Amino acid sequence: MSAASQAEARAFLESLSGPFPDHIAIIMDGNGRWAESRGWLRVRGHKEGTNSVRDVTTAAAELGVRSLTLYAFSRENWKRPDFEVSTLMRLLRLYLRRERETLMENRIRLKAIGRLEDLPRFARTTLEETIALTAGNDGMVLRLALSYGGRTEMADAARALARDVAAGRVGAEDIDDETLRGYLYDSETPDPDLLIRTAGEMRLSNFLLWQASYAELYVTEECWPEFRRPQLLGAIKAFAGRKRKFGGLLRGDGAAVGQQRLTTEATGT
Ligand code: FPP
Repeated sequence: MSAASQAEARAFLESLSGPFPDHIAIIMDGNGRWAESRGWLRVRGHKEGTNSVRDVTTAAAELGVRSLTLYAFSRENWKRPDFEVSTLMRLLRLYLRRERETLMENRIRLKAIGRLEDLPRFARTTLEETIALTAGNDGMVLRLALSYGGRTEMADAARALARDVAAGRVGAEDIDDETLRGYLYDSETPDPDLLIRTAGEMRLSNFLLWQASYAELYVTEECWPEFRRPQLLGAIKAFAGRKRKFGGLLRGDGAAVGQQRLTTEATGT
């Protein structure tokens, strides 16, 4: 990171008067609309969207965000026309190849969540190579959700857990929400604090259904190709103004009373 962007990041962080999101998750929506409104093919929006991926990833790493999860391709996206699906897969490979240097320079560790076995071989191989290349990095974790669906993730977790119960490795009576967490695609990464959605829709679209239970939601009208570093800073600033109670109460100093991570004994709204 250059000295100028280091100073800029420090000044921004000092200007925040509330919590900082350790984990940000983003529903990158509106690529198609962005392109169509300019009379262009939808895939041009996806291509421009990869530049937002680079900009936002670098900015998040520079600011000290611990984890960034991007909804890059849902299980439902397979229903799109063949040309759009194959373009997205080729863009994924292109992005991974092009960004390796940036990932390494910023000590970013790449992970992926979803039914990765659904991806075409060429995309999966490049993904696996990049994950292996960055595995030793100790900076931000960048997770790409690919062929991902929140309900499928829970069904996959339930199936694996049921097998362990049947084999006697887990007692059915001992299962609580932390047990189930351990069977999700990546249980090491803490839950998202801030969930951003671009292009204005007010839905979760099957994204991180388990993990987003207490995430603060931030929806912006800007389409994903328009969402860059300044927009990310705006979302982080809005998050800093939120009061997070985790179903409990706030202390006088504004901090949440009690544990932040809920267990089955302490649920709340
Ligand atoms: C939603 O826009 C976006 C997607 C389905 C794919 C997101 C993909 C990228 C940003 C590029 C590839 C990603 C990586 C990580 C290299 P939409 O097409 O649903 O937009 P619309 O709602 O306006 O139609």
